[in-house]
Amino acid sequence: MLITTVIMLNIWATAADDLLSPNINIIEQLGKIQIMETRMESMEKEIERLKAKNPDCRCQKDTGVYEHDIMTSQQKVYAAEDNVEELRSKNEERVKVAFSASLLSSHNIKYIGPYAEDTMIVYGKIFTNIGNAYNTTTGIFSAPVKGVYFFNLVLFTHDALSAGVKLLKNDDHVVGVTDNPPTEDKEDTASNSVSLLLEEGDQISVKLIAHRRIYTDGFRRNTFSGHLLFTM
Ligand SMILES: *[C@@H]1O[C@H](CO)[C@@H](O)[C@H](O)[C@H]1NC(C)=O
Repeated sequence: MLITTVIMLNIWATAADDLLSPNINIIEQLGKIQIMETRMESMEKEIERLKAKNPDCRCQKDTGVYEHDIMTSQQKVYAAEDNVEELRSKNEERVKVAFSASLLSSHNIKYIGPYAEDTMIVYGKIFTNIGNAYNTTTGIFSAPVKGVYFFNLVLFTHDALSAGVKLLKNDDHVVGVTDNPPTEDKEDTASNSVSLLLEEGDQISVKLIAHRRIYTDGFRRNTFSGHLLFTM
């Protein structure tokens, strides 16, 4: 019985090395640690019992080996507990940023533009805005932390309008989306995506390009989304 338990301890020790893998379930790992602690306690009791029963027997030597194994395993369990604690606090600290919005829905045909200059667009219909990084009044996304962010921009145009929007980082053009007449069909969708390393406080916005228009109705075909992929 003693040998079986020691072997099981060694299997657990291997599993402990995987603790930093992103797929681990913290609760499950904590449960395993508790079970291991219970097993070690009963092994220690068993050793004490054997020692008391056979004070002069050769098995003193054997129990010494087991005791060493138990101590090694116990150290691994302590290290595993520290790792679990670290993972748990990291998970709690993790910044969560995700927003997705479309132009305000309206059942009436609505053109935005054209204007003589590039003009800020505010995507007023919010699907999700975790972390409130997208300001729904100004249309400006402000990076709350340094990290890599993914942005997606979808443009819809109708009736061969000359349409176009562009994504800016602070005041610099990053990517654009355009569609120009003549078009064979009445409807056109265009999109662009980009991943950007942003510093805390960097601002991302979308502007309607000068002399162009976009078309929006209740179908929500003009969208702007941004997600924090990971912090840096
Ligand atoms: C959005 O921007 C406006 C104007 O700068 C500001 O007054 C408001 O507090 C901002 N909203 C959020 C949620 O930060």
